[in-house]
Amino acid sequence: MKHPFTCALVTGASSGIGEAVARLLARKGIALIITGRNRDRLEQLAAELESQVEVEIIVADLSSPVERAIVGAKIREKVPDLLINNAGSGLYGDIISHSNEMELEVLRLDVEAVVELTMEAARALAQAKRQGVILNVSSVAPYFIFPKFAVYSSSKAFINQFSQSTDWELKAQGIRVLAACPGFVATRFRERAGGKTKTKDMRQAMTTEYAAEQIWWQIERGRPIHIFSFQYRILAFLATYIFPKSWVAKINSKIMSRLAL
Ligand SMILES: NC(=O)c1ccc[n+]([C@@H]2O[C@H](COP(=O)([O-])OP(=O)(O)OC[C@H]3O[C@@H](n4cnc5c(N)ncnc54)[C@H](OP(=O)(O)O)[C@@H]3O)[C@@H](O)[C@H]2O)c1
Repeated sequence: MKHPFTCALVTGASSGIGEAVARLLARKGIALIITGRNRDRLEQLAAELESQVEVEIIVADLSSPVERAIVGAKIREKVPDLLINNAGSGLYGDIISHSNEMELEVLRLDVEAVVELTMEAARALAQAKRQGVILNVSSVAPYFIFPKFAVYSSSKAFINQFSQSTDWELKAQGIRVLAACPGFVATRFRERAGGKTKTKDMRQAMTTEYAAEQIWWQIERGRPIHIFSFQYRILAFLATYIFPKSWVAKINSKIMSRLAL
């Protein structure tokens, strides 16, 4: 899709990939609605970008249906023609060491919120007879068997399936639903997932700027699903079609044991 966007809503813009996407969209002159829980960080970003575009802030915890409704209402009011469902979190470590509530909260944010906001945005665009793009930030994780990261990797498998299926359903109306699959990106994700941050692996991570450029590249080309680098595309292919699943599971189990605190 060529760049016709007038207004973008970016969830999880207070940090990491979402923050870099917001900066990139501001450079393209697209008015922004940015969301997150951390008001200070959203205000700082808005102050930085307001010289380029109009920026509105919504402070909301998207794992809460009540707070999500505030974002839903804004979507119905403003009908953004670009929605970046980026907010997400995961938990590293043995599943039975986590409380049910901790893992279910991951699902509420990574699955429920994405489904709900996708539906709100698609319905608002369809009713206004407008075209638009909904890009859901997924992950390369679902291409691998992932012990000690099961709920997160499964939630992103849901997002890949949901996005591609909804895309087929809506694209005749000019509404696209895309799934973006980053590999490892240098953000606060690892720290929040209960992982070590000061490992040498961080040096192998993609930058948030690179991830934002990959997202823009995907939007412009309308790719339904996009793994961000050649290296990860090869790994995903091998893990899906060539390597025995038991190898993949064993390797990932070791990696996750090393990563988890
Ligand atoms: N980093 C990676 O290696 C990697 C790889 C593949 C996919 N991803 C995906 O990329 C997306 C962005 O993650 P990131 O790496 O940029 O991590 P990050 O730096 O931790 O940023 C996560 C963002 O999500 C927001 N968020 C978290 N919980 C929230 C909640 N309950 N309600 C509302 N907002 C919430 C955070 O905002 P507040 O702090 O203001 O709450 C923050 O802006 C996620 O969907 C993640 O699954 C990341």
